[in-house]
Amino acid sequence: MTQQTLILIKPDGVQRGLTGEILRRIEAKGYRIEQMRMLTATPEQLAEHYHEHVDKPFYAGVCAYMTSGPIVAAVIGGDRVIEAVRTLSGATHPIEAAPGTIRGDLGRDWGDGEIRNLIHSSDGEGSAAREIAIWFGHSA
Ligand code: PPS
Repeated sequence: MTQQTLILIKPDGVQRGLTGEILRRIEAKGYRIEQMRMLTATPEQLAEHYHEHVDKPFYAGVCAYMTSGPIVAAVIGGDRVIEAVRTLSGATHPIEAAPGTIRGDLGRDWGDGEIRNLIHSSDGEGSAAREIAIWFGHSA
């Protein structure tokens, strides 16, 4: 079933020059970039995006990290793309992410207690639609 998912290449990915490599892996897997933009996230956009997490102790760190520099938002399309991009991304913490995944191959622990894990990807059809609307508006 053809789907769309939302990815964010996080500030560490952009700052480290890994935007092309991350997109390359998604395209090489066979999925299509349908929309893409570079922007600096506002705290308001992040609070909407991470609405399930705003009250958690780690959220202040997430917000500081995600607003620390430009990000790249993209809509990726294809059959079962939501699950596929989650698999490509790997586990949340780069140290626990399997080799072969974006986080497992390109991420590390930088020793400051923050998780810098390069990419966000939607975890289901409902969250994909909601997140695409946040970053691209309802016309995506
Ligand atoms: S939970 O509580 O298990 O639902 O949270 P989790 O799914 O692990 O994480 C939710 C998102 O917050 C990010 N996260 C962090 N970012 C930076 N620093 C710290 N300490 C941190 N802890 C959690 C995590 O990467 C998830 O974001 P996305 O963008 O979905 O990867």
